[in-house]
Amino acid sequence: MVDADLENWIRQLPKVELHVHLEGSIRPQTLTELAAKNGVDLPGGVTAIYQFSDFSGFLDAYMRCAACLCTQGDFERVTYEFLLDQAALGIHYCEVFLSSMQHLRRDFDFDCLMQGIQAGYRQARSETGIRMGVIFDHGRQFGAQEGLRVLERAIGTRKFGVIGLSIGGDEVNFPPELFEEMFLRARQAGLRVTAHAGEVRGPESVWGAIHKLGVRRIGHGIHAIQDPDLMAYLQQQRIYLDICPTSNVRTGAVPSLNEHPVRRLFDAGVPLTISSDDPALFQTNLVQEYLLLAQHFGFDRRELQQLSLNGVRASFLPEQERAELQARFQQALTALVV
Ligand code: ADE
Ligand code: ZN
Repeated sequence: MVDADLENWIRQLPKVELHVHLEGSIRPQTLTELAAKNGVDLPGGVTAIYQFSDFSGFLDAYMRCAACLCTQGDFERVTYEFLLDQAALGIHYCEVFLSSMQHLRRDFDFDCLMQGIQAGYRQARSETGIRMGVIFDHGRQFGAQEGLRVLERAIGTRKFGVIGLSIGGDEVNFPPELFEEMFLRARQAGLRVTAHAGEVRGPESVWGAIHKLGVRRIGHGIHAIQDPDLMAYLQQQRIYLDICPTSNVRTGAVPSLNEHPVRRLFDAGVPLTISSDDPALFQTNLVQEYLLLAQHFGFDRRELQQLSLNGVRASFLPEQERAELQARFQQALTALVV
């Protein structure tokens, strides 16, 4: 049963979201319209593409969503709508992944693409005050060479709001080590870096992301639960895991919600933040993810506040802005009755 009072409280809780993909956040109605406009086949319609049962089915659905974005105006529209939806959930700032290769392989002009995103962002920001940074997420299955092309585009479009670089996609066949050079160059260029790791592979993938790629924030990282040394290291070094419970169940990364390690990771002192990953595809949102933690894993309101503050601490905002946002959150949290 949904506790309306708790849900309301979570909505009011000031939040940031650090792990959310633009292509997985398109409103169903908008996706239907874009598919029709751009002649993209969605077999069985939007609801059918949400019905996947494993990780490869999920990636397939995800790529169909990405293929529906064909013009600068499409990027502007989905960014604008996405940010309005985020603001309505009480989200003040988000870091949004863009699956760069999905667009680069169609030869999309990245200045044009990022100008579309920026226009949608400007409009949503002026209406709601929400803020956003863009992270280019490189699908590992496209390989390291293509990764360097993505990096070049990321550097070239920083002026339009790109702040970082990441790897996602097929973690099973493409370990972090392959992308060492790409990440080294990204860090040298001043981009912030993160990586999906320990989502469907074990602790070795998280160690690789830390030691070979130099990341201090990990997408998912749930399989760290298998390695006490890794958990201790994450705690001591303050390396954050962006946890997305519904995503992990829907993609089959965990067998069931009961087996999700979020509570055990939190109790072991591993620094965590909470995200929705692909809210439209997983039919969830950040408020629902917090609610799940409360109702299924027994997180109390103080613990949820702690997770919200962790999001600000782990964000890639420039240090002064990060500190200002943290101070504002702290003030708002004090005013929010627990
Ligand atoms: N792209 C979008 N969501 C993803 C996820 N959960 N894992 C890997 N790649 C992704
Ligand atoms: Zn992700």
